[in-house]
Amino acid sequence: MSASQVYKNFINGEWVESKSGETFENRNPANTDELVGVFQKSTPEDVKAAIDAAAEAYEKWRLVPAPKRGEILFRIASRLLDVKEALSRDMTREMGKIIAETRGDTQEAIDMAFYMAGEGRRLFGMTTPSELTNKFNMTVRQPLGVCSFITPWNFPMAIPAWKMMPALICGNTVVIKPATDTPLSVVSLVRICHEEGIPRGVVNMVTGSGGTLGDALIGDPRVKVVSFTGSTETGRKVSRACAPNFKHSCLEMGGKNVQIVMDDAKLELAVDGALWGAFGTTGQRCTATSRLVCHKDVVGRFVSMLVKRARELKIGGGLDETVQMGPCINQQQLDTILSYIEVGKKEGARMATGGEKLTGGDYDKGFFVGPTVFTEVTRDMRIWKEEIFGPVLSVGTFSTLEEAIELANDTNYGLSASIYTQDINKAYVAMRDVYTGIFYVNAPTIGAETHLPFGGVKETGNGHREAATAALDVFSEWKSVYIDFSGTLQRAQIDTD
Ligand code: UN1
Repeated sequence: MSASQVYKNFINGEWVESKSGETFENRNPANTDELVGVFQKSTPEDVKAAIDAAAEAYEKWRLVPAPKRGEILFRIASRLLDVKEALSRDMTREMGKIIAETRGDTQEAIDMAFYMAGEGRRLFGMTTPSELTNKFNMTVRQPLGVCSFITPWNFPMAIPAWKMMPALICGNTVVIKPATDTPLSVVSLVRICHEEGIPRGVVNMVTGSGGTLGDALIGDPRVKVVSFTGSTETGRKVSRACAPNFKHSCLEMGGKNVQIVMDDAKLELAVDGALWGAFGTTGQRCTATSRLVCHKDVVGRFVSMLVKRARELKIGGGLDETVQMGPCINQQQLDTILSYIEVGKKEGARMATGGEKLTGGDYDKGFFVGPTVFTEVTRDMRIWKEEIFGPVLSVGTFSTLEEAIELANDTNYGLSASIYTQDINKAYVAMRDVYTGIFYVNAPTIGAETHLPFGGVKETGNGHREAATAALDVFSEWKSVYIDFSGTLQRAQIDTD
């Protein structure tokens, strides 16, 4: 790929320029001298054309037998597997996270494509007895129509695949708008869908800013489902925009995920978990460990081990296999993180390590900040409460399990949490009483697998789950079917004797 390659929108099976005639650049966040590609600055008119195509294609696609739709998804999954390395390298160049992680991101898309391909031969409903004689009852899943997807930059291929694969297997059609920081991964995903046999109009893509395109993607009455992953603030806007027409929305939003470290925990393991959970993906995951509560009897030892290891992390461009943490996504994100670090200092938390923008040499070309640990964080502080989306870990302390659980639940969010302990009873109590959508024992707060439901409670989500068969509930509606073969009128609840 040449560095200045211009990528187009994908509408109705064709690569087309935006009607705006304008483009935007996508640069490598580890080295802004490197242009990853040039993309279409789309307009609401482009979105309308994509929805036109998706609405037309829906009438045929919904009637393709699900196992046949599954065969195409199998081909997409196999192809993604074949080109996994190239896709992952492109993803590191556009998103910044290290190559081991972008391989994981691509793998997550592959897993989802295979999983949903298999669903083509299941999509199970229920058969159940009728209360009346000579009557047959069952349920079937029905697709909804056109789905709009607004996807984030932190999982440039996995999250688009989480949304696309279940939507497609259920028989819906798609318009996707990738994050402006990471359009290339979605261009590649959409290209593979097209080349492996997804019919014209079934998958469409427009690039550009959510601010400009959001209303068109959400407001069109032909769009039946909006699936959004991003901030709680934007999710609230999406929810409001969907409400007047009772349009379905599936929202995956912020997190302030906690790791609990008990006094009986294996501390080395808990440190490994905290490092990966807090600084993996440069802390830019919804599932990132941004709070850690540690038993007061072990906090001194734990923090000194953690700080030592955090200082040893190698930070740089993610294509270097020895690098352990990449840059932040862009200048704005870096500024937000640095401003939260200032807030933490002013609020009186103790900065145990990090806190600095990294400068000098190659660092000057990217958006690098050191892994940062604040200790003595208390619940009134903003760094305890607010999602930072960067490599900043806030550590507090507790004396009892009850207190730890209370602290864990002291948040507006509810995506993921974890406990490190050797006591199975404590693990079960925490599993039951920590209020989140995802819970880990002796593992970090990140690392969900595609065949379990993914999502959170409180201000993290609106009751839906992505991944697993739970995703099918977002992209299909139940129809209950009653077949009376008695040849007489039988009245439910009345003629039952
Ligand atoms: C996200 O942070 O938006 O569980 C998704 C994980 C990944 C997905 C994270 N499998 O950390």
